[in-house]
Amino acid sequence: MAADIAYAICALSDIPSQKARGFQLVRLDEAGKEVPWSIFVVRWGRQVFGYANRCPHDGVKLDWERNQFLDPNGVRIMCGKHGALFELGTGMCLEGPCKGRALTPVALEVLDGDICVTGVTLAEDEPAASFCDDEEA
Ligand code: FES
Repeated sequence: MAADIAYAICALSDIPSQKARGFQLVRLDEAGKEVPWSIFVVRWGRQVFGYANRCPHDGVKLDWERNQFLDPNGVRIMCGKHGALFELGTGMCLEGPCKGRALTPVALEVLDGDICVTGVTLAEDEPAASFCDDEEA
């Protein structure tokens, strides 16, 4: 399988530093079947951190308000359902009902100013730019 492909999901500059954004992607499983894949990306300066958008506590999406992934201070990832707090760089739950468990990391690289997902195969029937979930509600 082409595991080394990097899929651009948006430009680094599309996410302001110290903000996060969710993406609805579709990946292919080992059998080649399309599986919806919801992830989010936190940007911190030149660094980006990616995780599956799934709380280890109840398996729900973290952003109860769209694209609200961070706590009020903007220094931790927060689940909107019961308020679990996760470390930005590791995804480890530091406080809350899933303390000691972690978010599932998503491998990312920044290539030519684009944030790219690596290590998976995406169903790519749309231009890469359209993965970007940037329309305002
Ligand atoms: S579902 Fe996330 S803290 Fe309970």
